[in-house]
Amino acid sequence: GPGLFFGMELLGWYRSVKRDLPWRENRDPYRVWVSEIMLQQTRVDTVIPYYKRFMDKFPTIRHLAEAPEEEVLKCWEGLGYYSRARNLQAGAQQVVSEYGGSVPDDKTAVAALKGVGPYTAGAIMSIAFNRPEPAVDGNVMRVLSRYFCLEDDIAKPSVRTGIERIAAALIPEGAAGDFNQGIMELGALICTPKSPGCLICPVMAECAGRLAGRELELPVKTKA
Ligand code: ADE
Repeated sequence: GPGLFFGMELLGWYRSVKRDLPWRENRDPYRVWVSEIMLQQTRVDTVIPYYKRFMDKFPTIRHLAEAPEEEVLKCWEGLGYYSRARNLQAGAQQVVSEYGGSVPDDKTAVAALKGVGPYTAGAIMSIAFNRPEPAVDGNVMRVLSRYFCLEDDIAKPSVRTGIERIAAALIPEGAAGDFNQGIMELGALICTPKSPGCLICPVMAECAGRLAGRELELPVKTKA
């Protein structure tokens, strides 16, 4: 079916083009967590030097949990959205007090950490633990709205939930981390908002939005 095509083509493409980003050096859940929080409102190229400095200064959850807050904020200076840094430190303190310093391999427990929403929980579970959980952000909603030519308003929580269900069903067996990073990479590099690179897209052959000539109209989003 179309799901199998999407997953296998995406995986092959991702494994051949993936960038050597510092948070891809290993699957340490703490490293994945920090990267996903930084990447939420900040571009990859901006995040890289901040991420490296942060990891040098706070190499483990325990280092972060025990640091003075002002040192954490100083390391975050220039990234903006400082509540992200405060929540990250509070989450690290939770992991130390509740789980002995190791991020639990449990979706519900991870989703209950300070500052960790459904997207970040899915990213941590899939990238660090290879669990078949979706990680749906704006980029992923754009890719799947186009691929399936979905015209529902992605501002609606019910539509997001529906896309999460679709994303989960597309994950190839045993490859959740690469699949989720692949779909993020596709949204960032090819299936971009304004001038998507359909001609070099690995899944163009079965992209319903493109086949209908409607890729630029999708996704539909009412409110800001
Ligand atoms: N954007 C969000 N998560 C990302 C990741 N793990 N790699 C690259 N870009 C991302």
